[in-house]
Amino acid sequence: MRLSSPHINLIIKSCIKASKSLIRDFGELENLQVSTKSPGDFVSSADKRTEKIIIGELQKAHPDYGIITEESGVINESNIEKRWIIDPIDGTMNFLNGIPQFAISIGYEENGEIKCGVIFNPVTNEMYYAEKGSGAFLNNTRIRVSKKKKLKDSLLVTGGPKQISKIKDKIFFEYINISKNVSNVRKYGSASLDMAFVASGKFDGYWQRELNYWDVAAGIIIIKEAGGFVNFFDQDKNYPLKKNIIATNSDIHDELKALIDKKDIE
Ligand code: IPD
Ligand code: CA
Ligand code: CA
Repeated sequence: MRLSSPHINLIIKSCIKASKSLIRDFGELENLQVSTKSPGDFVSSADKRTEKIIIGELQKAHPDYGIITEESGVINESNIEKRWIIDPIDGTMNFLNGIPQFAISIGYEENGEIKCGVIFNPVTNEMYYAEKGSGAFLNNTRIRVSKKKKLKDSLLVTGGPKQISKIKDKIFFEYINISKNVSNVRKYGSASLDMAFVASGKFDGYWQRELNYWDVAAGIIIIKEAGGFVNFFDQDKNYPLKKNIIATNSDIHDELKALIDKKDIE
């Protein structure tokens, strides 16, 4: 690995440890217990097991740090200066369907700013990681966002709406509007890998509403360190962990933002 600060080392170590059981579970999907959190939103014994291993490893080193997780909620709530943000399987629907597009995503936040993060797809063995000021990497190679200059030539990725979304029409409206103004749009089912793919120049940009902080925390620093822009829009102050995101290379950012702000289809 090309970075070696104590925080990033610790995240990488916990990802690798947790990925061993995750890969086993991926090979035996029929044995997993799956329950429904809300319509269309599933959690499996693999999500819980993976998260438990990660939390265990991180806590061994820093028992006092705050932790925000998808499956176990918030731990050490009073520590808001130093926090881990964990999504044990980002892309659970893909995982449960045997589609190898899912990842462990872990970010480390200090005083409200993400300092480093790792997104690891254990099936393809691709580890995306970055630390503030030190660049972004895929395994041993430095990565950068694409050089696409115009939105109309761009390949974007998005996700949603969730089955329980109350703003489906708005999300579909944006999808139609943006689709008409770009080269094409993909929907891959893992927000963290969508962001990792923007950071490594495979996609030119990503936008999505109704995400959670753990979906995007690691991706934020990886895209920034790869030379891209990350912005949040329509933030509801009552729900700081809910995020609407635009993450792109530096050239198409404003054009995409302007389209999202648009209220009528052209
Ligand atoms: C989901 C994935 C998906 C996104 C959903 C997320 P999960 O995370 O990132 O791409 O569209 O909004 O909830 O539930 O698989 O961890
Ligand atoms: Ca997620
Ligand atoms: Ca998840």
